[in-house]
Amino acid sequence: MSAPAPAYRLVAAFLILNLTASLVVAAGHAAAQERAISLQRLKSGFEFLGPDLKAMQEDDFANPGMLWVERGEKLWNTPAGTEGKSCASCHGDARASMKGVAARYPAVDAASGRLQTLEARINHSRTERQRAAPWRYDSEELLSISAWIAHQSRGVPIRVSIDGPARARFAAGRDFYYRRSGQLNLSCAHCHELHWGKTLLAERISQGHPNAFPAYRLEWQALGSLERRLRACLSGVRAQMLPYGSPLYADLALFLAWRAQGLPLEAPGVRR
Ligand code: HEC
Ligand code: HEC
Repeated sequence: MSAPAPAYRLVAAFLILNLTASLVVAAGHAAAQERAISLQRLKSGFEFLGPDLKAMQEDDFANPGMLWVERGEKLWNTPAGTEGKSCASCHGDARASMKGVAARYPAVDAASGRLQTLEARINHSRTERQRAAPWRYDSEELLSISAWIAHQSRGVPIRVSIDGPARARFAAGRDFYYRRSGQLNLSCAHCHELHWGKTLLAERISQGHPNAFPAYRLEWQALGSLERRLRACLSGVRAQMLPYGSPLYADLALFLAWRAQGLPLEAPGVRR
């Protein structure tokens, strides 16, 4: 999404001139209590990739994201903090203890009542249990350990709770999703609900699901978090950027996970 400005203006013109757009978005918003996209039509971003990237994601030896997964496994077993404990000291083998965990995040932490992304949850264990300094967002360490944990849920369908204390956070995420923003005055839905399947510059617009993250992007030449991907979309429409770890990203991630409910996790995905 680091496309040059003039190209984006063209795209915006195309989208804004689509007179049916706002009507359909409004209808989508009203129906959001049910499903944004019916299960039969739910498609992972994987399905919008060319054959080369599909092959790269599917082959663990060719998938560059697996390097972070391996680093994450090492970190999992490395003692840290004043407690001198590793993640494994308490959680044992992640292949068993972390299976399916990433598929139900973001989730509300019962003790604090706060909605936590998987990354926030990991840092919580790091500061409260290991008594070590939290990892910076999108640092090599946090990416590696979240890739390692998310990888244990590969193939597990996303299933989040939007009940109880999560309800208000879900509603905030949904509102953000359907609200127009940025100089281009587009909402997420304009691209990912109304125009998926169409080509935008060299990319095919997908339904915008979170199930591949953290994912390796060729453009980044690195693994990146869902937040980094969302920031790329926001900067694409020239919208204001929220700081990493901002609660609104967690709200949006919860809405995205709910919207993608049923899609299996693919982390680490490979994307353009
Ligand atoms: C001293 C023990 C201890 C250590 C060390 C520890 N944790 Fe935890 N962790 C816990 C406990 C206890 C919970 C469950 C608390 C709860 O019920 O939510 C937890 C919860 C979690 C969860 C959420 C699990 C779920 O089912 O929602 C994740 C993810 C996690 N830890 C990751 C890590 C990682 C990564 C590390 C190492 C960087 C780590 N933990 C280190 C004790 C520990
Ligand atoms: C101008 C069109 C446009 C807008 C508006 C837009 N995106 Fe995107 N988004 C893209 C393109 C292009 C990609 C990369 C190709 C793809 O996977 O769709 C992308 C990718 C994504 C992905 C990764 C999908 C995957 O499988 O890798 C997610 C998640 C996403 N967008 C969410 C959002 C959210 C949330 C918003 C609103 C804050 C948003 N997008 C706004 C165009 C847009």
